[in-house]
Amino acid sequence: MGSELNRTPARAPDVRRLAAGALAGVLDGGRSLDRVLASLRLEGRSRAAVMDYSNSVLRHLGLLDFVLTRLLERPLRDPELRHLLYIGLYELLSETTPAYAAVNETVAAAPTRARPLVNAVLRNFQRRREALLADAQTDPVARWNHPAWWIARLKAEYPQDWQAILEASNAHPPMTLRVNRRRTTLEDYQRRLAAAGMTAVQTGECALTLERPVPVSELPGFAEGLVSVQDLGAQYAAGLLDGGDRMRVLDACAAPGGKTTHLLERHDLGLTALDLNPQRLDRVRDNLARLDLAAQVLTGDAGRPAQWWDGRPYDRILLDAPCTASGVVRRHPDARWLKRAADTTALARRQGELLEALWPLLRPGGKLLYATCSLFRAENRDVVTAFLDRHPEAAEEPLMLPSASLGQLLPDSHHDGFFYARLVKT
Ligand SMILES: C[S@@+](CC[C@H](N)C(=O)[O-])C[C@H]1O[C@@H](n2cnc3c(N)ncnc32)[C@H](O)[C@@H]1O
Repeated sequence: MGSELNRTPARAPDVRRLAAGALAGVLDGGRSLDRVLASLRLEGRSRAAVMDYSNSVLRHLGLLDFVLTRLLERPLRDPELRHLLYIGLYELLSETTPAYAAVNETVAAAPTRARPLVNAVLRNFQRRREALLADAQTDPVARWNHPAWWIARLKAEYPQDWQAILEASNAHPPMTLRVNRRRTTLEDYQRRLAAAGMTAVQTGECALTLERPVPVSELPGFAEGLVSVQDLGAQYAAGLLDGGDRMRVLDACAAPGGKTTHLLERHDLGLTALDLNPQRLDRVRDNLARLDLAAQVLTGDAGRPAQWWDGRPYDRILLDAPCTASGVVRRHPDARWLKRAADTTALARRQGELLEALWPLLRPGGKLLYATCSLFRAENRDVVTAFLDRHPEAAEEPLMLPSASLGQLLPDSHHDGFFYARLVKT
């Protein structure tokens, strides 16, 4: 089926069926949407349509599930049928498709025996829409489209900001570019964008945020390395590491290389880009080549330096640790439904272990920047506090970060959520 779809875009019912299957891969199979889409081997418009349906459902899953559960007399045994109904309901809710087409095409995508049920549920929704949507406002998961544990944790940790965080996490993310200062200037690149009909405002030292996101391939000079796509919050890392020319730097969790390449654009460094995942390291190599930068690229476990370290201490270490990615969920609407509360505990332990393993590699007077794209305290402030308690020779330096409290940046219309802490070896 995949190769047939590669040649011609899939028909509307096929796209719905494929999207329902993709949602089953995520919600029942526990795989990321990227992995599921890769396994479907779709291309072009078919891939874009399946991705669009899947992402739209995942962004609104709390609400869709609330509504569907109330429209069904008894639970559905077929999970793919449930996902197909989410798709039909989403179209009726969003009004992106005329209602008659949403109903007819969802019915056509269903197995013959299930068509009367699909038809009845969708028409019933049209009749009861106002009352159901009003009820949904009283249910936190339906109201905020995040799992209950996630909402409860944000509420407990950010009593003032939790609603703004959830609003931002449900919004479409901004598209921010990092201008390669080795190849051009911010003003010059802004002029190139304008000539290509794109408007962007300066939001950081080398950052331009586009008024409207565009496909990367449409960015002038992208292939030639004039610019990269990188969230503004992620762009803070390179400055916070406080590096300088000729320093020996370890980027311990480097792939796909967003921060590696930014560090190299700023200074002439002897940089080692390490990552556990060899496939993801290919993306680091591609980015280095596109931007005409050089680094030593190593596959290895940051938690086991004996396997890859040459014994020479580093002046700077960036530990951009694996985390729940709770600060960037608007870019990956599947992630919030795939994560479990217990994941934060396991990740926090791993983050502490990585810090412990890398600290001896830093020279006295050297600095380590601990970073995550998480909002949860267990992965951020708690990891750093526990480390400082264990290490009297480590001191935390204050950071110059706009709109952050104790290193924690919250997601908003300018940037994603990140955490930074800089430790110096005294
Ligand atoms: C948040 S991402 C890094 C993003 C990257 N710094 C950037 O700016 O493009 C975390 C990375 O850590 C890697 N990773 C996870 N565990 C690791 C380990 N024990 N050692 C090295 N890398 C690891 C993952 O493969 C992933 O690429």
